[in-house]
Amino acid sequence: MNIVLLGAPGAGKGTQASLLEESFHLVHISTGDIFRANIKEGTPIGKIAKSYIDAGKLVPDEVTCDIVKDRLSKEDVKGGFMLDGFPRNTFQAEQLDRFAHIDLCVNIDVDLSLLMDRICGRRVCSCGESYHVSTLNGATTCKKCGKELYRRDDDNPETVQKRLDTYFKETAPLVEYYANAGKLFTVTSGKQPPKAVYDKIAKELVRRGRSKK
Ligand code: AP5
Ligand code: MG
Repeated sequence: MNIVLLGAPGAGKGTQASLLEESFHLVHISTGDIFRANIKEGTPIGKIAKSYIDAGKLVPDEVTCDIVKDRLSKEDVKGGFMLDGFPRNTFQAEQLDRFAHIDLCVNIDVDLSLLMDRICGRRVCSCGESYHVSTLNGATTCKKCGKELYRRDDDNPETVQKRLDTYFKETAPLVEYYANAGKLFTVTSGKQPPKAVYDKIAKELVRRGRSKK
């Protein structure tokens, strides 16, 4: 089963992908994580991506689509994958339909008023885990691997506002794109904790025939 995880910045795409990866045989592919790894390593892709990410804009389609196409050609995704943060506009969705088959789009719908606090309170680990300060009880290290947690460069109020503007203008139309394709499953998270949101998504995956690990 191949899944697209859709949702505004801070909706919980990464959080849900991490939970789903643990319980289902699905490879988690986050374009944001790929770009951040490239920025850290100082690669040519990282140099291009940084200016766009810092400005809360989308990295150009040709760069992004090539990365995803290449990643999906690898052997490990053959048993199923989850795309987190791709596609992000109609052009990317159309390109994706040319090089991969998507079974389901899980749209995580969260009230706009919750997003700013969620993102600005997020702390991340280089292993991929993400937390919110409200649940860390003062801890500054990752519960999974013990490394020091940090705040993403684009998790400041000014850039978050730009990311939200970009989301509503360019990415939100994909809800209709996948609804028209008969592939949309929307989960309204509201103030429900991650595990409750996960349970709803997991139930839908099982209903569609995906077995747990
Ligand atoms: P990306 O890394 O994808 O960022 P994003 O889409 O802005 O989403 P986030 O990672 O901020 O949020 P999330 O939904 O993963 O939420 P999380 O689970 O962490 O992209 C970054 C940038 O890269 C883009 O702006 C763009 O420039 C570029 N880019 C990436 N893909 C691209 C593409 N396809 N094309 C072009 N450019 C691209 O949760 C957030 C917080 O909330 C955490 O603190 C978490 O603990 C908490 N939380 C999660 N769920 C809940 C819950 N149910 N209740 C309470 N708290 C919760
Ligand atoms: Mg994320």
